[in-house]
Amino acid sequence: MKKLVGFIVLVLWCVSCVQQPVTTPTNSIDAKVTALMEQMTWEEKIGQLHQVEGGQLTPQLYSEIAEGHVGSLLNCPKHLVNDVQRIAMQQSRLGIPLLIARDVIHGFKTIFPIPLGQAATFNPILVEKGAEIAATEASSEGIRLTFAPMIDITRDPRWGRIAESLGEDPYLTSVLGVAMVNGFQGNDLTQPNKVAACAKHFAAYGFSEGGRDYNIADVSEYQLREVILPPFKSVADAGVASFMPSFNEINGVPASANAYLFKQILRGEWGWKGTVISDYFSIKQIKTQGFCETEAQTAALAIETGIDVDMMSYVYHQYLDSLLMDGSVSEKAINDAVRNVLTLKYKLGLFDNPYVDTLAQPIHYDVSHLAVAKQAAIEGAVLLKNEHNLLPLSASQLNSVAIIGPMADAPAEQIGTWCFDAEPSRSITPLMAITKELQDGPIIHYVPGLNYSRDVNTNQIERAVSAAKKSDVVLLFVGEEAILSGEAKCRARLDLPGAQAQLVNAVAATGKPVVMVVMAGRPLCIGNEIANANAVLYTFHGGTMAGPAISDLLFGKSIPSGKLPVTIPQAEGQIPIYYYQKETGRPPHHFTLIDDIPVGAKQTSLGFCTYWLDAGIEPLYPFGFGLSYTQFTYSDIQVSQQNFSATDTLTVTCTITNTGKYNAYEVAQLYVHDPVASLTRPLKQLKGFQKVFIKAGEQEKVSFKLTNNDFAFWNNQNQFVAEPGAFTLYVAPSSDVAKGCSVSVVLE
Ligand code: BGC
Repeated sequence: MKKLVGFIVLVLWCVSCVQQPVTTPTNSIDAKVTALMEQMTWEEKIGQLHQVEGGQLTPQLYSEIAEGHVGSLLNCPKHLVNDVQRIAMQQSRLGIPLLIARDVIHGFKTIFPIPLGQAATFNPILVEKGAEIAATEASSEGIRLTFAPMIDITRDPRWGRIAESLGEDPYLTSVLGVAMVNGFQGNDLTQPNKVAACAKHFAAYGFSEGGRDYNIADVSEYQLREVILPPFKSVADAGVASFMPSFNEINGVPASANAYLFKQILRGEWGWKGTVISDYFSIKQIKTQGFCETEAQTAALAIETGIDVDMMSYVYHQYLDSLLMDGSVSEKAINDAVRNVLTLKYKLGLFDNPYVDTLAQPIHYDVSHLAVAKQAAIEGAVLLKNEHNLLPLSASQLNSVAIIGPMADAPAEQIGTWCFDAEPSRSITPLMAITKELQDGPIIHYVPGLNYSRDVNTNQIERAVSAAKKSDVVLLFVGEEAILSGEAKCRARLDLPGAQAQLVNAVAATGKPVVMVVMAGRPLCIGNEIANANAVLYTFHGGTMAGPAISDLLFGKSIPSGKLPVTIPQAEGQIPIYYYQKETGRPPHHFTLIDDIPVGAKQTSLGFCTYWLDAGIEPLYPFGFGLSYTQFTYSDIQVSQQNFSATDTLTVTCTITNTGKYNAYEVAQLYVHDPVASLTRPLKQLKGFQKVFIKAGEQEKVSFKLTNNDFAFWNNQNQFVAEPGAFTLYVAPSSDVAKGCSVSVVLE
């Protein structure tokens, strides 16, 4: 009997051997990292956490790499990549490759519109394609990690980094942030043409008080959970390789020391496993921010918070060893960080091949890349105004065209912020493109009027006026130079810099039809200039191909389809103004504006409701707004069921009719409103959008799927729940939902 039992046990054991897949733990990345870490000294481990500038191969950098004291470089040019990798691979004791990182924010050589402009496309496929091209170009120079996407929500156009953002809305930013991550990373990071992405800046950087860069962010749990964090959660779920803390403090705790954000939420609640890389000096700044007394403490705080890599503070390099020895830092904190860094290097395939192929054909500015950049600039341009259908222009009906303005031929400025590798000589400006477009047609009178956006010398304005007078139409290119937006480029006044307002007004006073094209890094409060122009196209900084894109739009080869990813205020005093507002107890129903108040009026209510005496309640243009050369009407909204339960998926459909003359794209937007809840809810929340092509005179049905999560919010117990009750759904052409259709549904 014993023998029989023994036999059965043996058989079962053999069967289990056969059934279980043969795992080869020594081949898994985890096992490789463990094996490597077993051989590493503490000095070598700390070296992996040290990131420095690699712009020059100085003797010091050489020996630091050779000794295994550096793990990654930022800003290392192509001609040095193989040298530094050879030192790391062949001269350091364990031959660990370096990670080469750089800011590749909206293109590498081929520059796409600034992220805010890309967001205006409402087109995740195009945004993904742009990131994929940026990855292809950047990786061909040895870059394998980009510090992008920036998915900070911001509602403050004074903040210069709004240019790098995807706008004010958590849903739009989530969708487009994921698109960027997918474009950069693909689905196999070992492919040499992919780069690891980095979600930044965690968190609340876009909520810097007063729109002043690096300032504190004082945000409620509601703001954090509902507005700021969702895009980060989305890219974490999508597998973004790395995260970067923000420079600011959040409710008193600097991001690089913020265990609530990094340990509790990111690694804990979300279970994200990736590499956290500090921002430039952000660790050292913890001391400046008044959170600790010594530099050594900054290192201890950051590593214990889970900031794996120290970018440029040098504090891990200087202090981690002694902090470990005296017990101020745990072995676990360092080991976890090293594991995260080495895992990323394995995922990127760097141990197999860290080198760049210097003999490969350059792929920069490939025609296919330029075509995508042009398409992004076309779809990222927002038509704000088009009086009497001035646009599109018909070249054959024009004898002469005036091209005026400091942005008409400013190759470096149209590129926009934070593009270290861009070559302005490759930009095609509006002047160049329109000159080509009109080569056999109307005469062009080109007068810049001002030499650059901040120019206050008005000498040329008279000439610009004469050019306008002798032309059939004026194309007026205004905006901001690239250097006026981006990091530390905050503005308290959001007007057109320099004498541009004077230029616009002088040209408009000629009575000639004026098409104003605004090329800027942010929404500008330029209601007066917009009022003076007959048509306005807001293109943001459109990148390398801004010129051809604008030319195609002006002359009708393309039809505008961009929608604002951010609200445009009437005046700076309205900021923050965004669509995701809540209702007050005194909704704006009937109010008196400043000029209507009788002189000597007694103290009276003036409506006793929420508004600005001098600006009313509306922004200049709402989120999601954008005209076309054609017109769309929304009708016949339907839901698959009026009453639904938490497990149901609702389908919402709506018919859009193109009632105009042009075949065109429309971005239909779905908003949800929960009128009564245990915490008050915003009046509208974007929960879906669809870009549909509709031929002139035809209709298309758009369809959205909504699940329980689309009705949920973070309640007072920090639970994400949908509360039973009625909701209103809108399908509309913008956040001005009155222009769309609505329907009520009930969650039971
Ligand atoms: C910025 C980051 C950027 C880093 C490296 C910092 O000043 O805040 O967004 O990735 O520099 O260039």
